[in-house]
Amino acid sequence: MVCRRKSLYLQVETKCLIEKNKIDMREKIEALMAEIAGLKNLKEQEIEALRVRLLGKKGEITALFDEFRTVAPEMKREFGQKLNVLKQAATSKIEELKSSAESEAAQNKPAVDCSLPGDIVDLGSRHPVSIVREEIIKIFRKFGYDVAEGPEIEDDYHVFEALNFPPEHPARDMQDTFFVTSGKNPVLLRTHTSSVQVRAMEKLPLPIRIVCPGRVFRNEAISARAHCIFHQVEGLYIDEGVTFADMKQAILLFAREMFGPETKIRMRPSYFPFTEPSAEVDVSCNICHGKGCNVCKGTGWLEILGCGMVDPNVLEASGIDSKKYSGFAFGMGVERIAMLKWQVKDLRHYFENDLRFLKEFETSI
Ligand code: DAH
Repeated sequence: MVCRRKSLYLQVETKCLIEKNKIDMREKIEALMAEIAGLKNLKEQEIEALRVRLLGKKGEITALFDEFRTVAPEMKREFGQKLNVLKQAATSKIEELKSSAESEAAQNKPAVDCSLPGDIVDLGSRHPVSIVREEIIKIFRKFGYDVAEGPEIEDDYHVFEALNFPPEHPARDMQDTFFVTSGKNPVLLRTHTSSVQVRAMEKLPLPIRIVCPGRVFRNEAISARAHCIFHQVEGLYIDEGVTFADMKQAILLFAREMFGPETKIRMRPSYFPFTEPSAEVDVSCNICHGKGCNVCKGTGWLEILGCGMVDPNVLEASGIDSKKYSGFAFGMGVERIAMLKWQVKDLRHYFENDLRFLKEFETSI
């Protein structure tokens, strides 16, 4: 009897408990649904905290699912649906809150963040050969010279024939010249900028006063003193009554502008097919000022250019009356002038483009 009564009591107690659970659960679900519906404008951190609180391992909705296991079978259908709706509502609310927080953050973010350090643009500088070429041009412009240019790929006529080179002259040889085509007037890479003299005399009105900067090509082995590509500046002055003294004065003034006002020049007789007489010009050594050092090899002098009075044959070949007009010409290697100016011992530095070398000249502009 006792037993029966006890079990009846237990049954009643269990039923009460289930009823109570049902009410608790329904209330909890409704409260959570109401809370979720009212949520808006949360920050990203708050959204994450909410997700953990509701759907995390120990979250409130997760706990309700655990509790669901104890729900009486006849109530499972109702509560199962309710819980699923709750979970779905929480999940989609969290997604919605997240995307509106993201778009708000994107809107508030300035398009350009001015506080970030900028990208460093490594500015280049002029190449030393360009610096010297520009300086040579600038000096001669001051003396009234114009700048003329001609093609790098030339014909034999402009590079040799019109400049009075005899057919057997060694400079025409395959060993010196890069030929592009063979034949009667072969096409080649110019070996000097003297070819621009010819083109200028053919087409410019007299008097002519020009400097011609440009690249030249010679079939030479590359060494500290020679390269197969280098730069020259040619000069040409043709007018009535131009003399050797005019040439000497022009070159002296140039040398002083380039190497300093104390610079002296000397002229040594030389030979070029296109000038007569011809000379090579030395400047007093800008390191030892004539006393003799290892740069000038103890001589006190440094060779800078070749020059001479334009040969009458050259004037006539381009249709200029050599009885009326005379002129002088000169030609210098830009790398050589640059080497002397900055005491660079190896010509190859100018072609290797090693930034450590190039940066040395940044301030020389
Ligand atoms: N063209 C000569 C050379 O490349 C340099 C030169 C010498 C040019 C004498 C001249 C000149 O105009 O008169 O070596």
